[in-house]
Amino acid sequence: MLYLNFENLAKIGKTHGITRAEILAQGKLIEKYLREIESKNQGFYTIIDDKSQLQNINKYAKKVEGKYKDIVVLGIGGSALGTLCLKHALRYLPNKSKAPKLHIVTNIDPVKIKKIESDIDFKKTLFIVISKSGSTIETISQYLYFRQKCKDKKLKITDHFVFVTDEKEGILRMIADKEKITSFDVPKNIEGRFSVLTVVGLLPARLIGIKIEELIEGAKRIRDEFLKKNIEENTPFQLAAIQYLLAKKGKNINVLMPYSQELDFLSIWYTQLLAESIGKKGNGITPLRALGVSDQHSQIQLFNDGPNDKLIMFIEVEKLSENLYIPNSHPELKEFELMNKKISFNRLLELEKQGTEMALTHNNRPNITIKIPKVSEENLGELFMLFETSVAFLGEFYKIYAFDQPAVELGKKFTKELLLKEYL
Ligand code: PA5
Repeated sequence: MLYLNFENLAKIGKTHGITRAEILAQGKLIEKYLREIESKNQGFYTIIDDKSQLQNINKYAKKVEGKYKDIVVLGIGGSALGTLCLKHALRYLPNKSKAPKLHIVTNIDPVKIKKIESDIDFKKTLFIVISKSGSTIETISQYLYFRQKCKDKKLKITDHFVFVTDEKEGILRMIADKEKITSFDVPKNIEGRFSVLTVVGLLPARLIGIKIEELIEGAKRIRDEFLKKNIEENTPFQLAAIQYLLAKKGKNINVLMPYSQELDFLSIWYTQLLAESIGKKGNGITPLRALGVSDQHSQIQLFNDGPNDKLIMFIEVEKLSENLYIPNSHPELKEFELMNKKISFNRLLELEKQGTEMALTHNNRPNITIKIPKVSEENLGELFMLFETSVAFLGEFYKIYAFDQPAVELGKKFTKELLLKEYL
């Protein structure tokens, strides 16, 4: 189970840190905030109880088992980033060797599209088109492109496409119904960036061998904490309170810095979740991606010596998926004497994280650590739910509606107008 350690915040002192008592004092707001969240009728923390979702996905996965070598996800934003994170976090697990290869488009850059096109065997490819609205221009154009390629190769569309979209509305729904393309429904009350634990993330995950039941198990544990009224037992609330209180002290940038290569893409997913949910009406916390230890030789200079406007959120993995020792292949050199002690990359990474944490604390730079035992389905499920529920609480702290994205929609509207002006 994950563990949030925020003891460094108290060591830093009043101006830049916060005491445990200050954080716990926020606990009186939990009940009210939970009521407010509940009144918004969001399904991201209840969908995980829906057994039929897993049954439908498993049924489909069994039906197509062994049929595809490549799976291509067509989508953007919340319809693709969770899957990207899942793929990168869990691809090293042992049960993945015979699984199809997962490609995720996430963009309309022709270089990327061409690269995926040349990497796949169309005859053995399944395209999963994911768009809640069913009309996002980027996803629709990716779909049109690959559909045409399939048609050119005389492939049967229903054998190579599956849609994940709204139950009733949108162009994709219309096409699916008309052409009898297999489709899955995105629940109406779950926004894209909160949808990784729905069919949006779970379908592609299941098809590449990720144990989706375990993702859900992990998520449930944190969801149960999220509903607890006692702050000592509610990690999502603790996290949101820390982020909010520090933002009030000018720490408006939140750096997510996993000490695990496998979790690098979690930061991409979280960036969207935090930015698109809370960046509203002049409020917001700016998410920043960093990776331990790589960024110790890069952004850490800024974090530790630049403006004191950041909260550094480390993610520490107790047991990495690999254990590698650094051999002393220069026993003759006195300079390498230390290496005779059989030091592992793992221990070096741990000590470097500790050193970085100490240096930041020494310079009064707020930092916290989210610790997980290992990178696994269950722990990833916990992390997804921790961040989703803490963002929901943050919305309440800021008194903003976290579940829409008006500024993103405005950009979509202007782009559409430009397209129509130029081509119609
Ligand atoms: O979080 C969100 O709601 C957005 O990032 C959407 O996921 C993104 O705009 C894609 O929308 P759609 O799934 O409707 O194609």
